[in-house]
Amino acid sequence: MTPLLSAEEAEHARALTDHICAEVRAAGGWLSFERFMALALYAPGLGYYSAGSEKIGVGGDFVTAPEMSDLFSRCVAAQCAEVLQDDGQILELGAGTGRMAASVLTELAARSCLPRRYAILEVSADLAARQRRRIAQLPEALAERVVWLERLPQRPFHGVILANEVLDALPCRRFIVQGEEVGELGVALEHERLVERSAPADPQLVAEWGRLRGMVPAPLPDGYVSEMCLRVAPWLAGVTESLERGMVLLLDYGLPRAHYYHPQRLTGTLRCHFKHRVHDDPYVNLGVQDITAWVDFTRVAEAALECALEVAGFATQAAFLLGAGIQSYIAEAAGDAIEYARRAGEARRLLLPGEMGEAFKVMALTRDLDQALSGFALQDLRGSL
Ligand SMILES: C[S@@+](CC[C@H](N)C(=O)[O-])C[C@H]1O[C@@H](n2cnc3c(N)ncnc32)[C@H](O)[C@@H]1O
Repeated sequence: MTPLLSAEEAEHARALTDHICAEVRAAGGWLSFERFMALALYAPGLGYYSAGSEKIGVGGDFVTAPEMSDLFSRCVAAQCAEVLQDDGQILELGAGTGRMAASVLTELAARSCLPRRYAILEVSADLAARQRRRIAQLPEALAERVVWLERLPQRPFHGVILANEVLDALPCRRFIVQGEEVGELGVALEHERLVERSAPADPQLVAEWGRLRGMVPAPLPDGYVSEMCLRVAPWLAGVTESLERGMVLLLDYGLPRAHYYHPQRLTGTLRCHFKHRVHDDPYVNLGVQDITAWVDFTRVAEAALECALEVAGFATQAAFLLGAGIQSYIAEAAGDAIEYARRAGEARRLLLPGEMGEAFKVMALTRDLDQALSGFALQDLRGSL
């Protein structure tokens, strides 16, 4: 059972529901799931990421890998260090509480490999405020390198773009297989309540479905529901437009396409997070729960090639962290039994297949960079894309 809403949360959910209902009416009675998800997450002042709930951490709705352990961010930093050169910068998209930024900078300082600038682009005003508080706790020599951007960099830059659990928050289309055809899922109103309804898919979705069904290994059964994130390509094109030389490191839960659209995955990959409970009903707790969909990494790779990026690596989170040297950060604590046990416990959660090790993947996309990346030295899953 999901936890009950506080009076304040219930009021927030009601206000966002009213807002979405008004948009459904204005649109003639139906909104695509993609538009619904965009409103649920980003409607100004009301969406989950636009309003002030705690979201990330023990008092929030979910915990991410950098929140769970600095071992994760130290491995990310190790991978960045291989790529950063003299005037290199880091751009982090969707930096959450700022903990990964703080740990990456601390590790890079220890390696004498600080970026010229660590820029953060964050859509959530309250998370940006939290990031500022976290970064302010760093030594001045590190904190002064961090800037918050209002929009993507306009000038060409060299370095690394990081995004941990950001792609899964991009609003996606939901579709339903109806015999030979495909329908699009969305929301309508019934007795003044939001209900899920399908409508004829628009030409873009039909074309995309035609392409997909030729690529999946087995026919998908009637009634099969899944997601497609058509925003991946424009998002990647936007974020990499000014990357002249360097690497994009994308870390998220997801699958190659053949596994993503497996005939047995009948109801798709959509997940909602509310107070550390995971469920699959996006139409409740509006504005106070996160809505995510797994990432089709084949789509990301296709989008990368369109942007003239090279898919330089694709591996499970476990293989990436081991390749990037997580063991050495645990071994550092060998003289302190309590600290050693703590780090070993955190590493288990990051690495074990039943925890985050397999479901989460890491993809490196590079431009004008010809060097081996140690995070991908142990495993190369690019053939599965
Ligand atoms: C699931 S949280 C992950 C936060 C952080 N990266 C971590 O791992 O703890 C998603 C983050 O992405 C941000 N976000 C969502 N959509 C975004 C977008 N289109 N561009 C940049 N940031 C976005 C959210 O505000 C939030 O900071």
